[in-house]
Amino acid sequence: PTIFRQDYAPYPYRLPQVRLEFDLAADSTQVRSELRFEPAPDTAPGTPLVLQGEDLELVEVRLDGRPLSADEYRLDDGILSLIPPGHGKPFTIGIVSLCRPAENTTLMGLYVSGDKLFTQCEAQGFRRITWFPDRPDVMARFEVLLRADPAAYPQLLSNGNLIEQAGLPDGRHQALWRDPHPKPCYLFALVAGDFDCIERTETTRSGREVLLQVYSDKGYREQTRWALDCLANALRWDERRFGLELDLDRFMVVAARDFNMGAMENKGLNIFNAAYVLADPATATDAAYRGIEAVIGHEYFHNWTGNRVTCRDWFQLSLKEGLTVFRDQEFSADMLAEGLPPAEAASARAVKRIDDVHTLRLAQFPEDAGPMAHPIRPDSYQEIGNFYTATVYEKGAEVIRMQHTLLGEAGFRAGMDEYFRRHDGRAVTCDDFVDAMESVYAQQHPGQDFSVFRRWYAQAGTPRVRVRSTYDPATRACRITLEQHCAPAGLEARQSPPPEKPPLHIPVSIGLIDAEGTPMPIPWEGEPRDTIVLELREASRTWTLADIPRAPVLSLLRGFSAPVILETDRSEADLALLARRDPDPFARWDAVQETAHRHLQARIEADRDGGPGPAPGMLLDIWRAALENEQLSPAYRARLLALPAVREVIDRGEPMDPRAAVAAWTHIRKTLGARLADPWRATYDDLADDGGPYSPDPVASGRRALRNLALDNLLAGQAPDAVELALAQYRQARNMTESLGALTALLQHAPQAAADPLADFHARWRDNPLVLDRWFGAQASAPGCTVAAVRALMALPDFSLRNPNRARAVVFRFCLDNPGNLHTPEGYDFWAEQVLALDALNPEVAARLSRAFDNWARHEPVARAGMQAALRRVLDAPDLSRNVREIVSKALAA
Ligand code: ARG
Ligand code: ZN
Repeated sequence: PTIFRQDYAPYPYRLPQVRLEFDLAADSTQVRSELRFEPAPDTAPGTPLVLQGEDLELVEVRLDGRPLSADEYRLDDGILSLIPPGHGKPFTIGIVSLCRPAENTTLMGLYVSGDKLFTQCEAQGFRRITWFPDRPDVMARFEVLLRADPAAYPQLLSNGNLIEQAGLPDGRHQALWRDPHPKPCYLFALVAGDFDCIERTETTRSGREVLLQVYSDKGYREQTRWALDCLANALRWDERRFGLELDLDRFMVVAARDFNMGAMENKGLNIFNAAYVLADPATATDAAYRGIEAVIGHEYFHNWTGNRVTCRDWFQLSLKEGLTVFRDQEFSADMLAEGLPPAEAASARAVKRIDDVHTLRLAQFPEDAGPMAHPIRPDSYQEIGNFYTATVYEKGAEVIRMQHTLLGEAGFRAGMDEYFRRHDGRAVTCDDFVDAMESVYAQQHPGQDFSVFRRWYAQAGTPRVRVRSTYDPATRACRITLEQHCAPAGLEARQSPPPEKPPLHIPVSIGLIDAEGTPMPIPWEGEPRDTIVLELREASRTWTLADIPRAPVLSLLRGFSAPVILETDRSEADLALLARRDPDPFARWDAVQETAHRHLQARIEADRDGGPGPAPGMLLDIWRAALENEQLSPAYRARLLALPAVREVIDRGEPMDPRAAVAAWTHIRKTLGARLADPWRATYDDLADDGGPYSPDPVASGRRALRNLALDNLLAGQAPDAVELALAQYRQARNMTESLGALTALLQHAPQAAADPLADFHARWRDNPLVLDRWFGAQASAPGCTVAAVRALMALPDFSLRNPNRARAVVFRFCLDNPGNLHTPEGYDFWAEQVLALDALNPEVAARLSRAFDNWARHEPVARAGMQAALRRVLDAPDLSRNVREIVSKALAA
């Protein structure tokens, strides 16, 4: 059944107060709830009270203390409904129910991980704990009493403040928690188990003492220090940049080994995938350190953007997710830039921007062009769990970033202040957010508004912006014409008539350089500027820039000012100039990427038509220049010198041809490795570790990133001593970035030589699940890993499909990062089989995997037929979850 945004209706009852009592045990947990309801002001007497439940056993229902007989309520397909007394006064529903955490493999609701108990309620997991109005616009104050065996569960945690803790006559113990802030049930959490914990106190800027804690498995205490530092940094940053202070006395982060996603912002009790908590130099890569910082920040920032102001309904998910991703991106960028001199700070921020845009293009652009295409505020869904997407999160963040660009930092801050002034404590919509921002924009630009901008929330698909320019030396005028269009996205193409797509409000950031690469300031709004922002709101518009001394080359979409695809008539020579000289680090990187993409597509065509293939001269020149340019930070050079990901190359094909793309990509990587062996080697040697203590700072980690890239290129180019170099790096590695860099490069290019380090790695890390995931992942994504080989990995005793991190390390890595082996008849069978196997355990994770074939219809005929048959096989299977069914049936409709 499809749910539509337009069908929203407010809940007819208020729920000021909730009390929950848990008798916790892994096999069977009893939940006793007391829900204090009052009819909303315009609720007619006799309006049914409807509560959701799922996979629960009902023991008893009471109304104002009186047990109800079975004919006084209805229980239909999990839904419990009854007609409350008609006097319009408050009433209390009491429910006793049972759930079975140990049997819960979905990891939604209350579940067991290791020997501990955790919850995950967003989006609709609370209904797996007890019957409840499971929707985000019902906000209640929660009081939670937890009872359990103290030997098995010495620590009992829930949201808010710990009120009392005591032993019980029957030998168990109990803890009473009270959360002072009303919240929707998706923010409820409880945790029970035996943990290590580190803590510190911080003083907030209004002078309150707050306790920050990080809980982990016993024995992992030392690996939580970085996470605690990140948490303190996040607290400070939100005060500084947004004036937002922690509103709790106590803020807890708990690491869980089994977790469906990254982490969850439960009020005062964040539950995290252990992969985003645990780090030390020996076990975590530099990228993992940054990932922890981003996710700790993200969940912490949700406390205001998500929890204090929450979503009216799940169609508004981007209200909190897009905004919070934008906030975590800015936090990470500020942390990277902190303490660096201005030029280096700008470069450090650009590296973060490049990484974020790269993610967007890799995950969101294909989504926006496939059967799951949806606006950042979807209009309908079958299963909300399927809409925690790159569109809602990453494109959502871009839509917030555009508002930041249009308003400026101070204006954006004023808009945020206004948003909280209007909506603190409420469940609201994306429109409410835009209204607040618009109130500032209208002050800044009298007579203008966000009526066109709002369409970003309603329209799916990646817009294309066509740029044309002319220059007249006589008048010194440069005319720039921007034209936008957005093709039907995904299944829209099947609609007749196809939906209308009016123009969007697109900020296009532009700079000019001359043929020598010298920046030419643009006279704009009364002063000369290096970068201007053109606000395109029409299908097409032309701007005339006056007083431009020489013919310009356009540097476009600086900083990636909008999530669009550019169509330009820029020549290869112009791109090459931008690749070497564009002062905007993002646009410069983009010019390099574009050059590489053009070369790769030319190579694919040549392979197909038997032509000679493009000469690599231009590519080699650009690469050599970047490699030898010591003005640029190593971190930035590592981005400039990375080829586009294979998946991006596949995605550009018309039709998509994975095996051809892999062949072309491999060929070019070899060429760049072999022809530039000397500078790669010099770079590798220059960047050797200085022997000091490990630090994940941007300078040190940038050096390691570029050095690992150099090693990879030396191996790709089959430099004579490259294997020796990699083996030596593995042996001498002083941190996980170095050992994994060596291991991965060997697996990619010289798999025979990887056998010893692989065995060593396994022996060393067999007892550390997160590190073992790396071992699995590096193998599953290696070109030598056939379907038979990935099956062999899955046959190892260390493998389990039940642990999402392990499933992602092996099955997902193979299906997403090993296109050469996936796109075979056995590969297609493997995918279908794994989707079904996972679906029987964990529908949410299975549905993620099922998305790997979203774009089957854009492929060449053989791949297309193979994927289509595999999709059919999944759709025809009995007992498919609603999650997988939605994905696969939409895919097949393409
Ligand atoms: N709100 C979480 C975040 O920080 C995501 C939780 C979604 N969980 C789920 N099982 N769908 O982004
Ligand atoms: Zn989030």
